[in-house]
This record gives sequence, C-alpha cells and structure tokens, in this order.
Amino acid sequence: MTASSAAGSSKDRVLIFDTTLRDGEQCPGATMTLEEKLEVADLLDAMGVDIIEAGFPIASNGDFEAVSLIAKRIKNATVAGLARAISADIARAGEAVRHAARPRIHTFVSTSPIHLAHQMRKTEEEVLEIITKTVTQARNLVDNIEWSAMDATRTPIDYLCRCVDAAIKAGATTINLPDTVGYATPDEYRAMFKAVRERVPNADKAIFSAHCHNDLGLAVANSLAALEGGARQIECTLNGIGERAGNAALEEVVMAIKTRGDVLPYETGIEATMLTRASKLASAATSFPVQYNKAIVGRNAFAHESGIHQDGMLKNAQTYEIMTPESVGVSKTSLVMGKHSGRAAFRNKLEELGYSLSDNQFQDAFERFKDLADRKKHVYDEDIEALVDQNIATAHDRIKLVSLSIVAGTRGPQRATMRLQVDGKTVIEEQEGNGPVDATFNAIKALVPHEAVLELYQVHAVTEGTDAQAEVSVRLSADGRSVTARAADPDTLVASAQAYLGALNKLLSRGARLHAQHAAE
Ligand code: KIV
Ligand code: ZN
Repeated sequence: MTASSAAGSSKDRVLIFDTTLRDGEQCPGATMTLEEKLEVADLLDAMGVDIIEAGFPIASNGDFEAVSLIAKRIKNATVAGLARAISADIARAGEAVRHAARPRIHTFVSTSPIHLAHQMRKTEEEVLEIITKTVTQARNLVDNIEWSAMDATRTPIDYLCRCVDAAIKAGATTINLPDTVGYATPDEYRAMFKAVRERVPNADKAIFSAHCHNDLGLAVANSLAALEGGARQIECTLNGIGERAGNAALEEVVMAIKTRGDVLPYETGIEATMLTRASKLASAATSFPVQYNKAIVGRNAFAHESGIHQDGMLKNAQTYEIMTPESVGVSKTSLVMGKHSGRAAFRNKLEELGYSLSDNQFQDAFERFKDLADRKKHVYDEDIEALVDQNIATAHDRIKLVSLSIVAGTRGPQRATMRLQVDGKTVIEEQEGNGPVDATFNAIKALVPHEAVLELYQVHAVTEGTDAQAEVSVRLSADGRSVTARAADPDTLVASAQAYLGALNKLLSRGARLHAQHAAE
C-alpha cells in the first residue's frame, strides 16, 4: 500500500500505522497475553489498518513469538517489528517479520542534542554513520524499511535533514519524525515536516510519518498538522494508550479526517464502524478503562443529558451531533436479551457485535450468558461484551476460580472461603480480612503465595440498575513489571476475585514464579 490517492478520489490517502501492540503495550500495566495480542492484530487487520507494529522482537522471547505469529497470520496489513540501531536488534526484527506477506523493519535512533549527549554518548557524526550502517543492514533483510529520528522535534533542523538524507540514501522507504516527548505545537510540527521535505534532496523517495505523544494533550492535533506539512502516515494507538500520557488515538485521527473532510482533504482505509469494537477489545485486553468522556469511543461520547440538548436532538440530531453513533459502530438500542434467548439469537448478537468465536469459545460464552441471564433481568450489549472479552482473556489461565463464599456485614470479621483450580488441581482455603474484598484477596494469597503488590483496585458498573454487573480492575506489580486485569460479574466480590486472578495469570504467563499451596481436597 502506498500513500497515493485512491482510484477516483481527489483526496490523498493517509496510511494508518497502529502501534497499540508496541508503544501501547509498552506502557506500565498494559501488558497483553499472546492470545490477546493475536486477537487485537486480527481486528486491526479486519478494520483496514495499513501497518501493524506488532512488537519489539529483541525485548523478550514473548515479544519475538508474538511478532512472528502475527506476521504469519495477518493477510492484508504490513507487519512491522521495532529495532534499535543495533545489529542484533535488526537481525531479530528481520527474523520475526520474515514470514509476513508484507514485512517491515522499523529502526530508530535518537537525534536530539540532549539524547546524543546523555543517552547515546555519541557525536553527531557517529550517529550519522550508525544510521547508514543500520538502515543498510535492515534493507538487506527486507525491502520495506521505516527509519525514525527519536526526539526529532528537539533536533536542530539542519542536523535532522542530514540524518533523513542518510537514512533515505541507505534505503529507508518511510521516514518517521516523532514528537517523542509530546513537546511540539501543531504549527511547529507542520513546519518541521515542510522544512525537511523541502530541504532533503531525495525526500520524494520516502513516505513521511507522524508519531505523536500526548504529554500536552496535542497528539491528535499535531498528527493532523503533520499532514499539512506533507506527512502521509500517522502512527497511533487504540484509545490513545502508550508511554506516559499516551499516543495519538487512532479513532480520533480517523474520525477527524472523516468528519472534517472540508478542511482535511485526506482519507484513510479504516472501516469506522469497527472503531467502537476495537476500542472495547483494546480496553479489555489491556484492562485500561476508557474514560467516560473520551472522544469517539467514551461511554458519554453520544449521550445528551441537558434538557436543551435533548430538545434539539429530538428535533434534529445534527443540532448537537457532528457524527452519528452508528458511524463509529455504536448500536442504536442496547437492550438485548434475557433468559429465554436461545443459541441462534446469541450467535446473531455476537456477530452483530463483531465477534467470531470458535465452537468451544461459543459454547463457554453461551453457558456464561445463560448463567448471567438467570441472575440479571436485562442483559445488555455491554454485558455480553464484558462476558465474551473475559472469556477470551481467561481461556488459557492456569489459575481459575471454582467457587467463593463470603461472610460479611457489620459483625466482623469478614471471612472468605475460596476454591481454586491451579494447573488442574483443586485447592481450598478460608481467610479473614479487613472487609470482604480484603478477605477474598487474602484467600488468594494463601492459595497462591506471591510477592506481587496490589497497585490499583477499581470498581464501576457496566450498565445501570442495582442488578448491573460490577466491573473490577486490578493492577499488580512484580519484578518491576505491572499488569492489569478486569472482570465483570453481578457479584462485586466474584468480579474482584476474577480480576485479581486475571492479573496473577498475566504475571504467570510472563514467567513469574507462583506456587499453589494446600493439598487438593
Ligand atoms: O516515541 C518515539 O520516539 C518512539 C520511537 C521508537 C518511534 O516510539
Ligand atoms: Zn512513541
């Protein structure tokens, strides 16, 4: 795929490069399991993302495996693996993407004076030599090479132009000029692209790319400004997750371009009706909740509360809506099913929500749906999404909750009796605590001793009403890594136990050593 205009269109095509699985996953607590990464990659491909940055292959064996598997299965998108300007990194990235239908190596080096002096401890001339050497090495492995000037926005323009020139001469086909620290303003970012493209003699041989961080809340504005300066690729993530304040949000970039075609004469290949589903999947996989007022995909993005707004909406939706909820995949009515709904209706609903499950996954999800419908009068789309996402996320878990009973109330101490299955073995324990949640977590700690520290415990309701499912997020950290997991259940304590176990399972899948205690019953 190139960035030229699509046939019959007067608009320039902008390539969407998604880095949810690399820059997004890299941020504290957003760790995804392999299965979750594959699911996100499949959805990105299905929704028309042009380039999927699948990971950083040298970072760990897990990252290498994820990039290799994604490279093998993705049909349409280019699959990129990240590499520092180090020979071993580039070789590993090349190996990970080599089976892709469209492989790309993305290699980067810092170019700003502050990075050169303090991080790289190299001179400008040394870095220029590194660029030529590493881009040439990558180009000998695959044809499609992206080169990034890390901290480009704090790099003097003359030196930046020399670096870009060297990268293109060595064979880079995409030049990415990141605002690594989220420092630039839209005007500055646009001007930087314009200057580099005008001054580098062979600039027309490469596609220019924007990569913006959101430290000042300007990531999307800067990405759009870069288009005016001649960039034709935008690097972004679902829900804007990423290092520190995150990256430019894919859904915001896509909908800004789509909604404001009058002033932004560009188009993307993204099927916008899949944006809501993609946001929910990313949120479920990373367990990062989406803020209620988040543009495009937040729960309130299309809610109208004030009387004046509601009055206007009833008369003509365009009075207060600049895009329709349907255009981003929000279904009109969310009330769906109850305990009399059968398999066919459930299957239809899953298809409508964008899920395609294997027979086993479907059977598990259907059983959990029936169980939920028995306990809850109305089952909404949001309930089904929470249930299926949880099902997918826990399919490969080594520790599973079998049962939980709680004694709680004003006359403490509160007590939790818990039964778990750990690697197929059933174990049981009773523990007291300072409240029912504490007792529940103490029971888990007694059954599966571990050093992980609880960093976050958060509860909110999936829908409205007293029988709504509680959605609980738990973040644990161990060995310098933190993982987050989320679970939903009408019983807040069951959801709390599931979320805690989900996070423990994620730590386990990353090689943490946990030990099941207590003999089987
Ligand atoms: O923000 C950044 O500079 C990056 C590079 C690795 C492209 O993420
Ligand atoms: Zn970044």
